[in-house]
Formats: sequence, structure tokens, C-alpha cells
Amino acid sequence: MGGMGFFGRKRTSVGLDIGSGFVKIVEIDHSGDQPEVVRIAVRPLLPDAIVEGEVMDPGLVADTIRGLFEELGVTGGRVVTAVGGHDVIIKKIEMDRMKESDAREVIRWEAEQHVPFDIKSVELDFQILDPEGEGLQMQVLLVAAKRELVDNKVSLLGDAGVSPTIIDVDAFALHNAFSHNYPEGMQGIVALVNIGHEVTNVNILEDGIPILTRDIPFGSRRVREDLQRERGLTSEQAEDVIQGEESIPDLAQFVEHSADEVAVGVERAAAFLMTQQAGVGLGRIYLSGGGSRIAGMAEALARRMNVETQVMNPFERVPVRPDAAVGVPIDDTAPMLALPLGLALRRL
Ligand SMILES: Nc1ncnc2c1ncn2[C@@H]1O[C@H](COP(=O)(O)OP(=O)(O)OP(=O)(O)O)[C@@H](O)[C@H]1O
Ligand SMILES: [Mg+2]
Repeated sequence: MGGMGFFGRKRTSVGLDIGSGFVKIVEIDHSGDQPEVVRIAVRPLLPDAIVEGEVMDPGLVADTIRGLFEELGVTGGRVVTAVGGHDVIIKKIEMDRMKESDAREVIRWEAEQHVPFDIKSVELDFQILDPEGEGLQMQVLLVAAKRELVDNKVSLLGDAGVSPTIIDVDAFALHNAFSHNYPEGMQGIVALVNIGHEVTNVNILEDGIPILTRDIPFGSRRVREDLQRERGLTSEQAEDVIQGEESIPDLAQFVEHSADEVAVGVERAAAFLMTQQAGVGLGRIYLSGGGSRIAGMAEALARRMNVETQVMNPFERVPVRPDAAVGVPIDDTAPMLALPLGLALRRL
């Protein structure tokens, strides 16, 4: 079969992550034996266009997204993006065992008991975690997102001239990126900690299943502002320190303080878990997001939590075509690309 026509067409997915610091795109070609990254692009957002996950300036964000797609010449392909934050609930629940099609009929009623939002205003999805199980009860992972959040995302993308095929959930995208790259992390309890520009997402997995997600209002922006205020650095100098291009005396002490905030958030999330299952501890922490690049962050967190901590490489087991990154130093940005990579890995 030739390169033309339907069967020769490339099957790609474009993962679009709209962060408060950077808009990020990863495009994956699914036509080969294994997924391959064919394009990577990031573009900074102007400060305060998005604040703590909330889009304050939709026009500007839409322009940034449109610019990125145009620059890359991304026209076709499925675009997968996600929603996250406080208006998304992910919860493991138990319900009477039944077929998936039957569960779909009653899930709204079940969800009503678990979701603290007006059930009429949410989009629901679920997954049966033990479809082969035989007990009277089955374990179900329930996801509820406020409909407004999804609608706003679709309309933002519409303004940017993009029509998304799938709206995923941030935590699942991160999980997806992780499970592809670290199959060994699918056992025991691990925490994925994505330190972004303004928000740190904590995602606790038990045997590969996301059982708890939480957002901490902490990110590299705060570190930058602290460096500016307490060390009299300019914003550019502080950013250079964060990105490891410059160092200052006592940086370690500084980072220790930041790691402490992250640790408190992880501990709170994990404490909830420990009370349920005595004796089962957090086995490992995998860091991602731009904030994971702060020199000494992984080490400080490991010390503070007394848990082995490593920075996650989203391309550990996903090959990247040599010309994929357009003006992006891939080693430096890799930890920021876990989420968009996880989105682009979605097939269908
Ligand atoms: N090489 C790099 N290029 C750009 N930013 C970097 C780099 N290394 C570290 N950073 C830091 O990472 C931050 C962006 O991280 P990331 O892309 O994970 O955040 P975000 O997704 O935009 O934000 P959030 O998820 O909090 O809304 C930047 O603000 C910067 O301080
Ligand atoms: Mg982010």
C-alpha cells in the first residue's frame, strides 16, 4: 500500500497541555509498532493569563494556542487535552457488581453519594477496576468533572481554532505517561508529584491504580518570587537559578524550604491512605513538571519524606524522532512534558 489514501494516512494524536506557565504540545505517531514522538513544542504564556488553573485572559490563551499550532503546522490529528483542579473528583468507590452497560445506567445515582457537587452539573465517567472479580461488590474508579469546566475548555479551544477529540483528566494523563515509561512502578504505592508553575499535582497510585489525587498551591513561580524578595534577584536571575543555569550560595537551604511545602502536601494526601491500610507505606516518589528541575529538589524531598525520589523521564520508553523538538532543548524540558505526552499516548 502506498503512502497516499486512507490506509497510508498517518495516525497521530496531539496532546495539548495548557499550563499556567507554558502551553505544551506533544504529537505522537501511532501508526508504527510502538508510539513515536514526532513533534514537541512549548510556548510561554504571559504572566497571569492563567492563575491557579483558572483562565483569566481567554483571548490571550487562545492566541497562544493558535500560534503554537500554526508555527508547527499541526492541522489534522486528534487533539487530546484535559481538565484538572478542584472541580474534578477522582474516587475509588464500591458498588453492586453488574455489567458495565448496566453500571452506566446507574452510575449517576451512585455518584450522587460520592460527589460533593450538584450531580446535574457534572460530567461522569467510570472504570470497573476488577471486571474479573466474583464478589457481590465491585471496585469502580469514578471520575466527575464540573460540566462548566469542560464546556469552558471546549470553547477556549474553539476560539483557538482547535477542536478536541478527547477531554481527559490531568491526573490520568500523568498516570498514562508514567505507566508507559515505568512499568515497574505499577506495583505497590507510589506518588507522582508534578511541580508546575503554580500548582503541584499529587497523584497516589496503588498497584498502578490512581487512588487519590490532590493539588497543592505551590509551584516554581513561588520559588522565583521568594528568590526575588529574599535574595534581591531580578525575575530573570531567579528564573536562571530555577532552571539550573545559575547558582547562588545557600541554594540548598532555599530548596529545602520549598521541598518542605511539597512534602506537607504529599504527606496529607498519603496520610489519608495510611489510616486505611496500616503498615503499607509510600514506596517511591516520581517527580515531574518544570519545578522538578530545581537543583536539589528531588534530593531534598527524598530526605524530608524518607522516600526514594527520582525525576521522571517521559521519554524513558517512548522514542522521540530526532527532528521532533522545534527550538526546544529536549533534555531540559523533558520533565515538563509528562502530561502532554500522556495525553498524546491516548489512541482512539
Ligand atoms: N528548561 C525550562 N524551560 C522552561 N521552564 C522551566 C525550565 N526548567 C524549569 N522551568 C520552570 O518550570 C516552570 C513551568 O513548569 P510546567 O510547564 O510544569 O508548569 P505549567 O504546566 O505551565 O504550570 P501549572 O501546571 O502549575 O499550571 C517554569 O515556570 C519555570 O520556572
Ligand atoms: Mg502543568
